[in-house]
Amino acid sequence: MVSLKEINESNFRAIVRMRLNEEQSKYVASNVYSLAQAWLYPEEAKPYAIYNDEEIIGFIMLDWDEKEHECGIWRFMIASDQQGKGYGRKALTCALNIIKEAGKFDYVFLDYVPGNVVGKHLYESMGFIETGEIEDGEIVMKLDLHKYNSNE
Ligand SMILES: CC(C)(COP(=O)(O)OP(=O)(O)OC[C@H]1O[C@@H](n2cnc3c(N)ncnc32)[C@H](O)[C@@H]1OP(=O)(O)O)[C@@H](O)C(=O)NCCC(=O)NCCS
Repeated sequence: MVSLKEINESNFRAIVRMRLNEEQSKYVASNVYSLAQAWLYPEEAKPYAIYNDEEIIGFIMLDWDEKEHECGIWRFMIASDQQGKGYGRKALTCALNIIKEAGKFDYVFLDYVPGNVVGKHLYESMGFIETGEIEDGEIVMKLDLHKYNSNE
């Protein structure tokens, strides 16, 4: 079963070591960089290790902006050797459930690098739509949480 667990002493090394191939590493910052940001912005950043049962398979970091009633998917990756097995979709579902259950947010935002066809396909299939904005060269998408329903 796929689940999200807070970063702790037992999982941070695996998260820091996790690499993507050269092409995909253009799509997301390194996990060590993300964890440094999480230290800088402790109020907003919520980093999680993604597990399949006891195995660490990915990393996701939320941008928890309660004041604006918006939460971001700030970073998201599944380790190269674990991709294409449905884990990304399940992990994103777990993250959306955490965000929805918090009861503090209206929208979820994210952005993706143009050309990231797998990311785009996954996000669209979960109900995200493009807002028309480009931020730092990345395409912005949002999900209306009031329309999102998942029991997974
Ligand atoms: C985007 C990412 C998290 C998806 O994770 P994943 O575990 O491979 O995704 P899943 O196996 O759940 O598949 C999700 C969908 O993408 C499709 N997909 C996955 N890998 C694919 C590939 N290499 N080529 C084409 N489609 C692919 C799947 O078929 C599935 O769609 P479907 O359910 O309609 O068939 C992963 O590819 C990744 O880490 N990419 C590099 C980092 C990145 O781009 N992060 C997002 C930044 S915005």
